[in-house]
Amino acid sequence: MTDLSVNFCGIKSPNPFWLASAPPTDKAYNIERAFRAGWGGVVWKTLGEEGPPVVNVSGPRYGVVHGPDRRISAFNNIELITDRPLEVNLQEITEMKKRWPDRAIVVSLMVPCEEEAWKRILPRVEATGADGIELNFGCPHGMSERGMGAAVGQVPEYVEMVTRWCKTHSRMPVIVKLTPNISDVRKPAEAAKRGGADAVSLINTINSITGVDLERMIPSPHTDGKATHGGMCGPAVKPIALNMVAEIARSPATRGLPISGIGGIETWRDAAEFIALGCGTVQVCTAAMVYGFKIVQEMITGLEAFMDERGYANISDFVGAAVPNVTDWQYLNLNYAVKAKIDQDLCIKCGRCHVACEDTSHQAITHLVNGVRHFEVIDEECVGCNLCASVCPIENCITMEPLVNEIDRRTGRMVDGSYLNWTQHPNNPMSAKPLQPAEPAE
Ligand SMILES: Cc1cc2nc3c(=O)[nH]c(=O)nc-3n(C[C@H](O)[C@H](O)[C@H](O)COP(=O)(O)O)c2cc1C
Ligand code: SF4
Ligand code: SF4
Repeated sequence: MTDLSVNFCGIKSPNPFWLASAPPTDKAYNIERAFRAGWGGVVWKTLGEEGPPVVNVSGPRYGVVHGPDRRISAFNNIELITDRPLEVNLQEITEMKKRWPDRAIVVSLMVPCEEEAWKRILPRVEATGADGIELNFGCPHGMSERGMGAAVGQVPEYVEMVTRWCKTHSRMPVIVKLTPNISDVRKPAEAAKRGGADAVSLINTINSITGVDLERMIPSPHTDGKATHGGMCGPAVKPIALNMVAEIARSPATRGLPISGIGGIETWRDAAEFIALGCGTVQVCTAAMVYGFKIVQEMITGLEAFMDERGYANISDFVGAAVPNVTDWQYLNLNYAVKAKIDQDLCIKCGRCHVACEDTSHQAITHLVNGVRHFEVIDEECVGCNLCASVCPIENCITMEPLVNEIDRRTGRMVDGSYLNWTQHPNNPMSAKPLQPAEPAE
């Protein structure tokens, strides 16, 4: 029997699906309906310190990139942290935790980078009964200009220092939310770990401008004719997030540190991919904003069905299962070779594979054979790059077939299942142990 419940760095949740800190989690009204829909947990919209409320723009604060079918592939925002009074939020958190004791409520925080400011807010959050805190070191606009958010997350020393303050002045589990607007995400993750973080979460949004209105020459969204960069999220950021998650999961310095995966998650499959790369929970924002809270139901049933099929009883059975298969380029097997193969019964003769391969790859697909329109791979030229299969509009019409104990007709080399990576390759001047090239084919 599949059990979706998780214990994420001491925080219990009936399933790994949490709403990320953002508009879906900014008030009790939303949280109540989210929990009714089935979300296992929420990260409350980021709270700031006591004082005059945060001021947002009173105009478009979102930008989007639509796909050809008008589905949203990327979402962009210039919103700040919560603009509701701190006390109101704290009261609502307390009430929600009492009403939903089995669900995870984590409170996202962002206060000035001063120990006193953290000392002031932490006991008040702890008094709500919240399960943990998430440190928002990622917000890329507005708050970063005030020395918070990404301005902290981009400096590992600050990440470590603030994390340590939170561990010193609170008993709650501390999750450090990382910014992707940095060249090496492992550095702040390592700093968080040094500071005593119980977990990291990633990614927050990516600096971006979603488009330019060419009539008025203003990027969007704009406020009274002027625009600023926003934070991008949604399906388009998922590959970036997966890579950053994998980097942290496989780095010796951070291996084993619990990770909450965020970025473009819309379906159970997206979630499963994050889990396979090392995440113990996943967080969702854009998909909930676009499709509503009930998307979690597909996530739950889909993940259960997948786990049943694979024989995974618990989420922990496959957390990180794909991590050992992530490596550096230099360790890829350069002796492995595949060739594209076209299924003539499925081919509709659209010609896209030919154009792509002819113009930008290796001129390895015919378009005319004996004067007849015919698309076929020329093995002597095919490098197995996968471009044709990627552009073919018919699923599985072009497959990539590994060569097994046969001569690669392009290189004339025998593909015999042996392993040779770049560190061993004879063409590598730095190669530790030069090897002889394989015998050329007759
Ligand atoms: C409108 C909006 C507001 C957000 N506000 C916050 C916030 O207050 N605190 C925070 O940590 N992240 C905030 N985020 C970032 C999300 O929590 C999340 O990290 C990001 O959107 C990536 O997830 P997604 O692709 O599922 O949207 C916000 C995102 C959006 C779209
Ligand atoms: S795999 Fe690459 S080289 Fe081979 S046929 Fe397709 S596009 Fe051309
Ligand atoms: S892209 Fe696919 S369907 Fe079109 S010609 Fe090539 S193999 Fe056939």
